[in-house]
Amino acid sequence: MGKKLERLVFAVNGERYELSEVDPSTTLLEFLRTRTPYKGAKLGCGEGGCGACVVLLSRYDPIIDQVAEFSASSCLTLLCSINFHSVTTTEGLGNSKDGFHAIHQRLSGFHASQCGFCTPGMCMSLFSAVVNADKTDRPEPPNGFSKLTVSEAVKAISGNLCRCTGYRPIVDTCKSLATDVDLEDLGLNSFWKKGDKNVNVCRLPHYSSGGICTFPEFLKSEIKSTSDVPDDAGLTATGGGYWYRPDSVEDLYKLLNPEVFSESRVKMVVGNTSTGIYKDLDLYDKYVDLRGIPELSDIRRDNLGIEIGAAVTISRTIDVLKEENGCTLLSNRNVVFRKIADHMNKVASPFVRNTASLGGNLIMAQRSQFPSDIATILLAAGATICIQTASERLSLTLEEFLERSPCDYRTLLLSVYVPSWTSACSSSVSNGTVDSIATTKTKVLFETYRAAPRPLGNAVAYLNSAFLAQTSFDKRSGNLILDNLKLAFGAYGTNHAIRAKKVENFLNGKPVTSSILLEAMQLLRETIVVKEGIPHPAYRSSLAVAFLFDFLRPLVKDLAEPGKTINSDANSSAANTEYTYGSLNGHANFSADKTSKRADCDLSDVILSSRQVIELIKDYHPIGEPTQKAGAEIQASGEAVYVDDIPSPENCLYGAFINSTRPLAHIRGIKFSSSLASQKIVTIVSANDIPKGGKNIGAKFIFGSEPLFAESLTEFAGQPLGLVIAGTQRYANMAAKQAIVDYDTDNLEPPILSVEDAVRRCSYFDVPSFVCPKQIGDFSKGMAEADQTILSAEVKLGSQYYFYMETQTALAVPDEDKCIAVYTSSQCPELTHSVIANCLGVPFHNVRVITRRVGGGFGGKAFKAIPVAVACALAAYKLRRPVRMYLDRKTDMLMAGGRHPMKVKYSVGFKSDGKITALHLEILINAGIIEDISPMIPKAVVGALKKYDWGALSFDIKVCKTNLPSKSAVRAPGDVQGSFIAEAIIEQVASTLSIDANSIRKRNLHTFESLMLFYGDSAEGSGYTLPSIFDNLAFSPTYEQRVEVIQKFNSSNKWKKRGISCVPMIYQVSLRPTPGKVSVLNDGSVVVEVGGIEIGQGLWTKVKQMAAFALGQFWDDKNEKLLDRIRVIQTDTLSLIQGGLTGGSSTSEASCEAVRLSCNILVDRLRTLKDRLQEQRGLVSWDSLISQAYLESVNLSASTFWVPEHTSDSYLNYGAAVSEVEIDLLTGATAILRADLTYDSGQSLNPAVDLGQIEGSFVQGIGFFMYEEYLENSDGLVVTDGTWTYKVPTVDTIPKQFNVELLNSGYHQKRVLSSKASGEPPLLLAASVHCAIREAIRAARADLLSSGGSDSSPSMFQMDVPATMPVIKELCGLDNVERYLEGLSAHQSKEPYCC
Ligand SMILES: Cc1cc2nc3c(=O)[nH]c(=O)nc-3n(C[C@H](O)[C@H](O)[C@H](O)COP(=O)(O)OP(=O)(O)OC[C@H]3O[C@@H](n4cnc5c(N)ncnc54)[C@H](O)[C@@H]3O)c2cc1C
Ligand code: FES
Ligand code: FES
Repeated sequence: MGKKLERLVFAVNGERYELSEVDPSTTLLEFLRTRTPYKGAKLGCGEGGCGACVVLLSRYDPIIDQVAEFSASSCLTLLCSINFHSVTTTEGLGNSKDGFHAIHQRLSGFHASQCGFCTPGMCMSLFSAVVNADKTDRPEPPNGFSKLTVSEAVKAISGNLCRCTGYRPIVDTCKSLATDVDLEDLGLNSFWKKGDKNVNVCRLPHYSSGGICTFPEFLKSEIKSTSDVPDDAGLTATGGGYWYRPDSVEDLYKLLNPEVFSESRVKMVVGNTSTGIYKDLDLYDKYVDLRGIPELSDIRRDNLGIEIGAAVTISRTIDVLKEENGCTLLSNRNVVFRKIADHMNKVASPFVRNTASLGGNLIMAQRSQFPSDIATILLAAGATICIQTASERLSLTLEEFLERSPCDYRTLLLSVYVPSWTSACSSSVSNGTVDSIATTKTKVLFETYRAAPRPLGNAVAYLNSAFLAQTSFDKRSGNLILDNLKLAFGAYGTNHAIRAKKVENFLNGKPVTSSILLEAMQLLRETIVVKEGIPHPAYRSSLAVAFLFDFLRPLVKDLAEPGKTINSDANSSAANTEYTYGSLNGHANFSADKTSKRADCDLSDVILSSRQVIELIKDYHPIGEPTQKAGAEIQASGEAVYVDDIPSPENCLYGAFINSTRPLAHIRGIKFSSSLASQKIVTIVSANDIPKGGKNIGAKFIFGSEPLFAESLTEFAGQPLGLVIAGTQRYANMAAKQAIVDYDTDNLEPPILSVEDAVRRCSYFDVPSFVCPKQIGDFSKGMAEADQTILSAEVKLGSQYYFYMETQTALAVPDEDKCIAVYTSSQCPELTHSVIANCLGVPFHNVRVITRRVGGGFGGKAFKAIPVAVACALAAYKLRRPVRMYLDRKTDMLMAGGRHPMKVKYSVGFKSDGKITALHLEILINAGIIEDISPMIPKAVVGALKKYDWGALSFDIKVCKTNLPSKSAVRAPGDVQGSFIAEAIIEQVASTLSIDANSIRKRNLHTFESLMLFYGDSAEGSGYTLPSIFDNLAFSPTYEQRVEVIQKFNSSNKWKKRGISCVPMIYQVSLRPTPGKVSVLNDGSVVVEVGGIEIGQGLWTKVKQMAAFALGQFWDDKNEKLLDRIRVIQTDTLSLIQGGLTGGSSTSEASCEAVRLSCNILVDRLRTLKDRLQEQRGLVSWDSLISQAYLESVNLSASTFWVPEHTSDSYLNYGAAVSEVEIDLLTGATAILRADLTYDSGQSLNPAVDLGQIEGSFVQGIGFFMYEEYLENSDGLVVTDGTWTYKVPTVDTIPKQFNVELLNSGYHQKRVLSSKASGEPPLLLAASVHCAIREAIRAARADLLSSGGSDSSPSMFQMDVPATMPVIKELCGLDNVERYLEGLSAHQSKEPYCC
């Protein structure tokens, strides 16, 4: 039986750890964060889907004396599996005390860290890529660079999510380390100015290979001296469970004896990455690590193929297949191995592939119906597998294995055999074994496909497929004849990957003509039957057709298109039988020069370029400087402290919500299943625990409040019913999911789950008059003036989840005399403060709420953060012990509510020249269960919609109350929908009139007079820059040229179409009163407190610059050195009251203004002293001034509460964007080829910060318009509840060319030092991507119409939001391939074929 070892030994950042007691369910991340000082690795998802937790793992092989280093997701890696490993976290690279690492410094200098929560993970992914590239035998790179290539550098972070930056600056950081980079192509940074001559690597923080010791010598010595080779070591972990590591199959089966183990409590693991998908529902008491069984790690090659042990990781498999391709079979260039390896490179992300095993994937596919890519591609490659059951060892084809009933826990997958397929030596497989080599004049074709939202992977495919075919040349007919086809399809909603045998049989022995292809497609449609309940069934089956078509079309003589040909010379080798462009995920190479050199992956498309245009203003130095973000380096090095990084106080307990799964039901009782997890419950906190005098209140805003816990009635699925308290966060989370709630719906009406239901039941929230938008003009009159009208057209917009990287979190610590301190990640501590006091029934002065920094907010940490803080406070108050919570991603997503979905109906009248005369809107806003900010949404919608002069504007907007989590503010709430609705109308008007949409836009942009009419005082005469911004972008010669190029492209490409569009934006920003306090300490250092919270938007950076400017007034150089002596500190609601809310984009400038005024008070107090000292001593330094002021008892602390003047408390922001896209008509995938944004930022307070906001906001908008589906089930329970199903943009989905111009619109008397906001407005510009997609779809539909393949209008269609791949494909024709083939085969029907 597995050997027992009494200890677990490993190193973290060079420090030795030896444990004799470990709960084997402990993850490496949990250990790092709770038992070491290293908090750099963050918990973003716990699913392997975000990269926040990435660390470097190193393993030492004493036999070859080599260290292997690889990135890993520490949230999935079990601690017990890293025995004798070394762990390096971002702190191990460098820190503020000993010096930061070049990666930290470069990330900071390229402005690549905003909230910073993703930054440590980014560092480690990049570091791992660099370390491994430097180990290769590539030529030595120039000093200061690594051996990484640009394409690898970008790929390094392909699995890491960042919700703030939009990735561009992170990509620049990565590229700065690449040996083939052109430094002048890198974006805005603080190492050199754009246009500087002599840009060279010396200007960058120095990087040298090998600077970090990732495997300490002591651990090597220990490994060498230990009698047990570490890999063979078994470990018994205590603390409630055991960890076994059998070292042979026999040993394993002794363990798996049912008399020893009960199945439900034993878990076999290799990489444990499956828990990212199938969450452990309960604890196990025994873990069996399969990696100790040597044959599971074996790799054996023979002439016929390669056998790979089941425990070999996917990364290692890729290397092995590539080695095989590159070395032993070099002469034959085994295309199959290479394509398998390429496809595997799109499975998950690097840090998952590095620990995920091949066998684990196949077992999940077999046992759990997992939509595996690997099963599909190996099925087509004719792979066989070897399994061991309790009684026998079997060799099976993969197909036989997949078709067996789900294997039990005592079935062991030993190895996978992948046969070698070459043209000269094509091997055939029968009865599960490779039994012959037939040398024929056949050639082997092999191709794999996957259609997924993200090209580089880390997204499960809608459908995947792989096709293998042998072809021979029929001289008589001149056709290629197909044989031995293996057509595999998977992931489309099937129990497992399948072979389309009917289609194979039909095609075998036939030449490929369009009519045969058409018949094959019809057969395929019958084969690909999507299971009920799986979304987008028609889309998925259309993908199957599209992929097979794509595979076979080069074989059809008449179909070969430029750039995609197949060599039909029967004597040529298979190596030449290559597609010259790829079609994976629609990200094909598109330029002529690229078609000739298809990269090893389709990464050549991911190499991003960018341009930033900014104008530096010196008037208020250091305001206007693109200084680095305050704290960026400590964010990168993991030293920045977020709420969950605060060490748990002694006796701390942890809470997790029990959430309702019903939308409207009585709660009759809650019990817990009898499970190991339930045993961890310490207590339950519910509404019954609210102290006398307190209220059941969880959040409130001016329009209403919401209960903390449902009492006897739950009103939406996701509503908190109570709180489970346990000894660790993981136990609490798991135990909360053991709750069994007894619901009943007696005497209840059905829940209201849609806006249509709400209308039927008249379920609306009031919109108070002070937030009601105003109608303009006379609609009937406007319609009467119109030449044409569109009546009752509809458009729909979905919701969007915040996806801040740090989920909701708080820590409550009880204090003396019924006082309590609560640390929370909140955008409005002041409100949190009052709700806590209300809930506990204590005076406000008993509560102190502290927020230092927030790991991303986007509006979601405003009201939605409050219940978490209040729940912690209530539990801590009840238990008299500290209580903390860090919501798991699923719970966070269940409760968040997110953006308001809308259903819009509009009627519009317009003249023949495109001038719109009247618009009427009926908008139904789904607000969820309580008001939150929803009554303000109509005003925001109309505010952004008014960017055009509609003539007369009237509307009927209903804010619907539904049994769903309340919707709240999400970056640009209401505005983004309003702006989009305007574009949808413009596009329809343009289509109706057959006029280019940009001309309609221009025709309807406001004059200054109409701007005043629509926006009143917010419009400032001299600052109306939109018409010129729009003209420069949309009516420039460059734009015209691009349109021409696009038209040419579209006419010469059948299956790809491009579109371009320019969208303007007006965004009304309001300023709110804000406090500020500035104190100068005896040593001259300065402490600043502001009401605003640093949520990544750079508020502290701007505030510091403002304080330096304002305090430096005595000196001509504005005392530049002051900047480094200023610290903005955490918000403490008792130290600075009336902090208000951070949101609406204007908090940075408001905080700056409050600080400027406070500084002015101090400057006034110091002025006389300064003058006196100057007279006495000549020059006076800051330090001497301050020390004298202390001696003379000058009050050196000043605070203000800045209240904006009524005439300047709101203003308009302007901008426009041009986006160009390419869509793939086979898959519906979109690549954003280029985006050019011009944004009027006034005189930017900090151009680097504003640029970061603009880019990040735009990319978040891309998520809204293209990717993010935040969906519910029929009970209103959120089902896209994690990284597996909810897809935010990643590095491979941003514009390939991303250009931003910050327009300086000059002096604005009423603005804070002439600046303008940048946080939210640019999100609206992402509508340009949506509009460009529409243009491309128009071209596709026009094509289809002209070839007789469609009856629908090419231009009159609505495209809802988000425009995901299925939506786009549907608009292009789900049967576009068949329609096309029908057209061709009709043409060819007279030509006979012979075979
Ligand atoms: C974020 C993320 C994204 C992913 N994306 C993709 C994707 O795009 N395409 C795709 O195909 N896959 C994807 N995967 C799945 C991934 O490939 C698998 O999770 C991984 O290969 C499982 O290997 P493991 O060693 O971690 O298995 P484990 O989690 O250790 O084990 C998985 C299961 O298999 C059992 N098991 C493991 N090995 C054996 C064996 N040799 N014999 C018998 N039983 C065994 C275990 O008991 C367990 O039940 C993704 C995974 C994650 C986390
Ligand atoms: S927390 Fe580990 S990948 Fe997200
Ligand atoms: S900086 Fe990347 S998530 Fe905030």
